[in-house]
Amino acid sequence: MNLKGRNFLTLLDYSKEEIEYLLELSAKLKEKKKKGEPTLVHSGKNIALIFEKTSTRTRCSFEVAANDLGMGSTYLDPKASQIGKKESIADTARVLGRMYDAIEYRGYGQEIVEALADNAGVPVLNGLTNEFHPTQLLADMLTIKEKFGRIEGIKFVYMGDARYNMGNSIMIACAKMGMHFTACTSKKYFPNEMLVRECERLAKESGGSITLTEDVAAGVAGANVVYTDVWVSMGEPDEIWEERINDLTPYRVTMDVMNMAGENAVFMHCLPAFHDLNTETGRVIKEKFGLDEMEVTDEVFESGRSVVFDEAENRMHTIKAVMYALI
Ligand code: CP
Ligand code: NVA
Repeated sequence: MNLKGRNFLTLLDYSKEEIEYLLELSAKLKEKKKKGEPTLVHSGKNIALIFEKTSTRTRCSFEVAANDLGMGSTYLDPKASQIGKKESIADTARVLGRMYDAIEYRGYGQEIVEALADNAGVPVLNGLTNEFHPTQLLADMLTIKEKFGRIEGIKFVYMGDARYNMGNSIMIACAKMGMHFTACTSKKYFPNEMLVRECERLAKESGGSITLTEDVAAGVAGANVVYTDVWVSMGEPDEIWEERINDLTPYRVTMDVMNMAGENAVFMHCLPAFHDLNTETGRVIKEKFGLDEMEVTDEVFESGRSVVFDEAENRMHTIKAVMYALI
């Protein structure tokens, strides 16, 4: 499998076999890391890391992975660079492409990461846009493989805002890999129809399926994975909290939901999560709306069914695999 020089913008661009290859490579690199074996395959190379939105996991994964592969990395935040304000994305791409062997971008519209890819001449890797979060899905699928020994046939239920980066990316991953995807949320938050149609077509080929439902009991019955994400994503206005709380509280992941899902179901979340009052935002929401927890209860988050920190660790191993294979 040769993926050298490819961009990593959305999983729509990758075949089932290519995704399987990246997951196998991730598992191998994880094993090597645990054994302390070096993987310095990209010595002397460099990656630029553009973050127009904040990050803990993705940034640290890229930096640690770069170091483990023998690469240098440069972190660029919007305040400390010319990007967007004084220099266009196309010009930035042409400059960075002369100095770096790859560029990671986290920020707003998918068209920005596409413009970078069109102009950089080196691989561009999507570290999250409004529309997609493809490296997160590699980590999630590696975690599922570790927990269930397989990906194909897994029933994957997503609760919350299914129109945004996580809902879209999970639906695509399920459609490509033969998993059964359910968006279990209010109609208003179903993914966009065109993407649903495209995923239904892909699911037919892979043996997966796409279901959209507002019914929690029917939606989660028989689930292997119950997944949720924050109700308000980065870049969305604070004014939207009230509406989201009203619309999405019925789709909070509680222990009742996990019990409806079945004994073997695991809880997943890309993180960060609002499950207690130990965050600034969590405390503001408590003051304004009286909620102690949001998309997931603390009971579920802290339970033995929660695999969220395995997912978080796997961000690094899977991002390393992408860099290993594409650069
Ligand atoms: N899951 C994820 O992308 O986390 P960060 O926002 O911390 O990078
Ligand atoms: N939907 C979230 C994902 C964070 C990893 C956001 O975009 O903020």
